[in-house]
This record gives sequence, C-alpha cells and structure tokens, in this order.
Amino acid sequence: MSDTLVHPEAPAAPEHVAIHRKDYRPPDWLVPSIALEVDLDPQRTTVRSRLMVTRNGDHGRALRLAGDELTPLEVRVDGDDADWVMDGNDLVVTIERDRAEVETTVALVPAANTKLMGLYASGGILCTQCESEGFRRIAFHPDRPDVLSVYSVRMTADRACFPVLLANGNLVAAGEAGGGLHWAQWDDPFPKPSYLFAMVAGDLQPNRDRFTTMSGREVELAIWVRQIDLPKTAHAMASLKAAMRWDEETYGREYDLDLFNIVAVDDFNFGAMENKGLNIFNSRYVLADQDTATDSDFDNIAGVVAHEYFHNWSGDRVTCRDWFQLSLKEGFTVFRDQSFSADMGSAAVKRIDDVRVLRAAQFPEDAGPLAHPVRPETYIEITNFYTATVYNKGAELIRMMRTILGDEAYRKGSDLYFDRHDGQAATCEDFVRAMEDASGVDLGQFRLWYSQAGTPLVDARLSHDRDAATATLELSQSIPDTPGQTGKAPMLLPLRTALIGSDSGEPIGEERLILLGTATTTVRFDGVTEPPLLSINRDFSAPVNLRVERRDGELERLAEVDPDPFARYEAGQELMYRVLLAGASGEAADTAPVIAAARGTLVSDTLDPAFKSEALSLPAESLIGDRMQWVDPEAIHRSRDTLRSAIGSELGELLAAAQAVGAAGHDLSPKAKGIRRLRSVALSLMAAGDPLRGAAAAKAQFDLADNMTDRQGALLVLASLDSPEREAAFDAFYIRYRDDSLVLDKWFALQAAAQRLDTIEVVEKLASHPDFTVRNPNRWRALVGNFAANQWCFHDPSGRGYRFLADMILGVDRINPQVAARQVSSLGRWRRLEPVRAALMQAELERIVQSPGLSRDVFEQASKSLA
Ligand code: ARG
Ligand code: ZN
Repeated sequence: MSDTLVHPEAPAAPEHVAIHRKDYRPPDWLVPSIALEVDLDPQRTTVRSRLMVTRNGDHGRALRLAGDELTPLEVRVDGDDADWVMDGNDLVVTIERDRAEVETTVALVPAANTKLMGLYASGGILCTQCESEGFRRIAFHPDRPDVLSVYSVRMTADRACFPVLLANGNLVAAGEAGGGLHWAQWDDPFPKPSYLFAMVAGDLQPNRDRFTTMSGREVELAIWVRQIDLPKTAHAMASLKAAMRWDEETYGREYDLDLFNIVAVDDFNFGAMENKGLNIFNSRYVLADQDTATDSDFDNIAGVVAHEYFHNWSGDRVTCRDWFQLSLKEGFTVFRDQSFSADMGSAAVKRIDDVRVLRAAQFPEDAGPLAHPVRPETYIEITNFYTATVYNKGAELIRMMRTILGDEAYRKGSDLYFDRHDGQAATCEDFVRAMEDASGVDLGQFRLWYSQAGTPLVDARLSHDRDAATATLELSQSIPDTPGQTGKAPMLLPLRTALIGSDSGEPIGEERLILLGTATTTVRFDGVTEPPLLSINRDFSAPVNLRVERRDGELERLAEVDPDPFARYEAGQELMYRVLLAGASGEAADTAPVIAAARGTLVSDTLDPAFKSEALSLPAESLIGDRMQWVDPEAIHRSRDTLRSAIGSELGELLAAAQAVGAAGHDLSPKAKGIRRLRSVALSLMAAGDPLRGAAAAKAQFDLADNMTDRQGALLVLASLDSPEREAAFDAFYIRYRDDSLVLDKWFALQAAAQRLDTIEVVEKLASHPDFTVRNPNRWRALVGNFAANQWCFHDPSGRGYRFLADMILGVDRINPQVAARQVSSLGRWRRLEPVRAALMQAELERIVQSPGLSRDVFEQASKSLA
C-alpha cells in the first residue's frame, strides 16, 4: 500500500559527521515524563507530545530536540508560544526556568515511511521501530538512551481498520471517540529511553496465555498476529514461557509488568525489538508450523523470543548510557539466549553452531576494513554497529568472564550488576566492575577485550619427555593490526586444556584452565607417561584463531577419542581443512583420514545424530578462504567438491542408510531434529558421490516429506544439481507456497544459494520476478544476501556478481538505507581476493561511494571499505 506514495520531504543530504565515545557528556536536560497523543492514520498521523523537562546541572544552554523528517506544526512551552528555531534537523527551544512542559505537534505519513524506522505501515498494520534513533521520526525528543522517561500514550484510530491498539506498559482506559474512531490509553510505569517506545495498531488476533512468576504474580501473555496466522504461534508462546522460567531459575530475574505482548509484522529491518512490554518481531521469528518452518526456523524462533524477553532485564531495566555501550545489552543478551538454547537442547551442538556463526561472520569482520572493538570508539551511523562484533564477540566476552570467574561468582556478579544499576543507563565498564566486585577477581587486563579489535592468534606446541614423564606446552599470542589500531597488548585468554594419552585414549590428569596473559608462556604437565594428544581451547573457551603444531596421527586420534565434543569436532574439521587447503593450492592430499573419520562417525552408536551431522559437514567455502593468503573461489570450490564426492562415493551405502532414516514431522524433540539434520547432510554427500542416485533420493525425500526440514533439505541438494527433478521440485514448491511469504523467501534463497554456473543469471532474473520486492527486507535479503554469501557464484571472474550486488544496494538505498548498508561488507573484503577480482570489487565500491544522494549508512560502510 505504501509503494505509490512519496514522502513529502526529499531526503536530507547526509551529513557524514563522526561521533566519538570520548565526547560523551551527560544530557543538558532530562525528561522525567512524556505524554503522547497520537491520531493514527496511514496517510496522516498527528503526534502531540508533551515533554516534562528539567534542567540537568547548572548551565544556560537551550533545550535541543532531535527530529528526522519532522516539521513542527506547533511548539509551546508551559502552554504559551515558545521561543524556538530549527537548527538543521534539531528543534532548539530557549527555556528560562529549570523545569517546563514542552509541547510539540507534528504530522507524519506512515504509509510513505519506507525506511521502516519510526512509525510505518506493514501489511495494514501500523507499527513502530525506534532503536536506535527512530523515535525522532515520531516526535521531537533528545532521543538518546540516557534520557529516561515515564510514558503515557493515548492512541486514537479508526476502529474498523485498527481494532487493536497497543503500546508499552498497561492498558488503563479505552473507549469510543465518535466517527468510527476509538481510543486507548497506555501507561508504562517504568522509566525508559525513547528507543524502547512502541505502538501498534491493526486488525490483529491474540494467542493468549498466562504465566505465574516465581513470586506468584500472574502475567497475561499475548502474541498478536493476523487471524490466519494464529495456528502458527504455538511454538513462540511455548518458547516465551520457557524463557520466562529459565530467566528466573538461571539469573533470578522475574517479569515486572502484568502484560507481555508480542506482535509479528512482515516488514522489519532486523530480527525483533525488545520494547518494554511490547516486543515487535519480524514475523519470521514468530510464525512456524511443521509444514512451513524448518527445525532451524523453530530453533531460531525460540532463540529470538528468548533474546527479546531477556532484554527486559539486560536492556530495559538496565539500559545503555550511550550507543558505544551497545554490547552491554546485546553481548550479554546474546550470551543469555545462547545459554538458554543450550539448556533446551544439546549444549555441544549449540556451541558448535554458535562458533560456526562467529567464525563465518565475526572473524572476517574483525580481519577486514570494518573491524572495530566490541565497544567502538567512533561511528558515523550507529545502525552500522549492530554487528557480529558487538553481538557475537560481545557474547564471547561474557562467556569468558563466566569461565574465568566460575558459575557461582558469575551469578553473584550478574545479581550485583542488576541490583546496582536497576533503572539506570549503564556502561560496559559498570558490568565488568560488578563482576570484579562480586568475585574479587581483577579483570584489569581482561578489559582489553572491549577496546582492542582483531582476533588473537595463538600458537601452541606440545613436547613430551618420556623419561621425565612430563609434557611442556609452549604458547604464544599476537593480535593483528586493525584499522586505526596497531601494536596491541597481550590479552587474557582462558584456554581450557587437557592432555589425552594417544595409546590409551584416556585423559591424563584433570582438565586445566590456562589463563594466557603474556605474549609467550610455558605450561608443564606431570605424570605424562604415554605420548599425549593436545586438546586445547575446549568448548572454544576463547574466541581466538589457533595454530597447533600437530604430530602425525594426532588429529585422527583426537577426532576419535576426545571426550570434549567441541574439541573432537574441531579435530575432525582440521583433518578436512588439511585436505581442502592442499587441494585449493593444487597439491595432492590424502583423503583417507577424512574418509575414515567420516566412516567412524556414521557407524558410531554412541554419537547422537545431531553431532554426527555437524561432524560430517565440511567447512564452508568462505571459511576455507579465510585460511588462504588469497581467496581463490574457483580453486576452493573445486577442492571442496572433490572432497565431497570422494566421501560420497566411498561411503555411499552408509550415507544412503542414514538418509533413509526419518522422523515424524510433528516431533520436535532434539532427537527427531537431529535425525532430520543428519538425513539431509547425508543426502547432500550422497549426491556429491553419485548425482543420479542423489537426485532420485532427493526427489523422493521432497515428495514424501511431512515437514519443511526434509523438504528444504531435499530442495537444497536438488538446487545445485542438473537434473529434471530439480525443476519439477522448484515448480511444485512455488505453486504450493506462493501465498506464504515466509516460505516464498526460501524459494528465492535456495535458488540464490545454488552452486551452479547459471546462478548469476537466475538471480538477475529473479530480481524482476513479480514476487520480488525491494520493499520487504526479508525478500530482499533472501535473494541478495544469499547470493552474496554464495562465494563461488558471487565471485564470478567476470565481475557480474559484484555489479549485480552494487546495483541492488544502490536501488534499495533510496528507500531503506539500513537494509542497503548491511550488505556492503560483501564487497568490502576485496583485499582478500586475487588481484583481478579485487580490482573489480573495488571499482563497484567506488561506484557506490560516488553515487549522488547516497545515505549516510551506505557511505560509512563503503568509504571505510575503500580506505
Ligand atoms: N535491540 C534489537 C535486538 O537485538 C535490535 C535492534 C536493531 N536496531 C538497529 N538499529 N539495527 O534485539
Ligand atoms: Zn538484542
């Protein structure tokens, strides 16, 4: 509905001003309370806001309120005409007294808001997104996270189109307003920053439930969706209740309002948003049933629902002082949701998945032109800093603190942090200090993890003295230079380490926690009578790159006997890397150890299916590239394909047997999910060994599937094959799901991820498919994001993939800069590619930077990528 409308104002020229952490100053004015009156209409919404402001400190400065694409219709101070001017986008009001009521009225066009920040329309629903700086698109306001207010919101709207009116906090009154209008009044008793404000109006239906908190309070829960989607909300509701219980049991955190609402919308820039008492979600993280969602969709829903719920404490009750502190809430909350998911299923497999994400997304970021510390020092556009570094590396920092302090002291630390800072806007430093104060452990050196960017590199070498029955472990660390940072100090790296007898396969002594805090160190182990295997950085206790000097046969043995599942998995992956890297540089390598390990995995009756599927999955092409001096996409692809077909042809029968085992689609137990996962991994390897047989098995799996996991797994295999079954399956999938936008996203994504020579052509065509739209972030990312992640196809030597991506970025930038900017990093690692491709990528980045009317968001990412 918004497609034909143009916003009344042309976008302002981007001001590319850098903001620095060191410039932080407390706000000049505080806003203890806010009353909003909102007359909602997609074509013309008016917002009357009354800010109670108080002077903060002894100064004579005017009140400066941020606005974005807002024009004031009226400004009053204490009911009188005010003395105000516009300074750029800011409304500057001169106030003589130390407290005043500042009233402003503005008009907006939600239907024309294509940036999906502020108040916008999504499929007939009006909703808001304010983090980080979206509130200024609704009302003039300081719009910084250290200004906390109590909100009272009166919403008025057409009852027929918008029968449901929601905002933060509690519904205190509602009624008819005449002329088909109705109104609702919502008060939120908890002071909050403006980024946590939310409002929703729409024709929504609730899935209602209740939760009794640990102190016996009753909370009404509701998940609001379109009527037709109600049957798909059961899993999100179950996840919410599980998360609420888990946070009580694990962190002692109880929910604090009488209502908790979740709303699903189709057009959303990110995953979801933790607005106080009214979480707003991208519908892909709410809606699921066995026919339309895969097991990993189900798991992601549980993880995101938990994440947003956990923010109620780590984010809402204790918020961030400024946006440089973003990881205070995001790193901590990611760690909390990772721990929750680990407790709900297999902790080992969850850890493997989390580390895979870290390595695939954060390590490259930390090694590239956009590298920044977990607590950044400077930004041009804060939205560009919702990164894997702030989120996922941030979560690793919290995990390391728990490892260093131990579970009990860590919990004391989190209790102290919540107690001390409840109701405040805090800093990363406050968090670390609470951990220190509660434990008595000095985290002085550990703090470097917040300020130094780059993934540490650890070298390890173990030697054995049979006569003395000792082993000596030599360790060293270095931290690579990153933009603006050189000559870094050694950091504190917690390395969980054990020795295992290579003959007996039994652990030698206890596992140790080595705290590597110097550039080099030596650790001695006694009582080592047989040659030891080195099991180091178990459970990935430190987020580092590790280079271990291995003896012949050591990895093979570790992949077989290491009782730490993560380390065992790692040993198997290292075996694969050896073959893959040799292959990619044109050397012959012995595939026998990899095949033997894969065989051992397949026939094992102690390993569970989910772990087996991890152990049988080869490192992604991008991860192989990360270990090469230059990324050579063609050579990597060939090498990986060769190994896959070797495994597939050697182990064809065992793989076929694993593929033949299924689990009932409605069964969402970890075991059933593991069986399905193994099934599609086996199918994929089987097809690599014997494409004809693989295509037939895939088509059969596709046709007989009673769940989306099997169906998508089969389609993923067919996608890269040249067989008649391929087209038949894609057509059938399209016809069946063309009206279900979340599933149609998969149809786009699978074709964009296909490893075929014609993928670029297919993708270009799909960009003008009638079901493709740049207005919906999910659809755009399904096609463009998946294609850019398809290393072999994206890096086509002609440069056609780069041109396509740059065109798509520039196209979407004019309507939604946040979506555009997030994709720039796919071009940004040009220096890692061989020179011909690097030059082509660089040229596209230059074309982007030189485009007129570029957003600040894309400008920052593209210009930093060229620097
Ligand atoms: N706080 C939200 C979450 O992680 C994400 C908000 C993203 N905002 C942004 N401007 N990128 O749960
Ligand atoms: Zn978050």
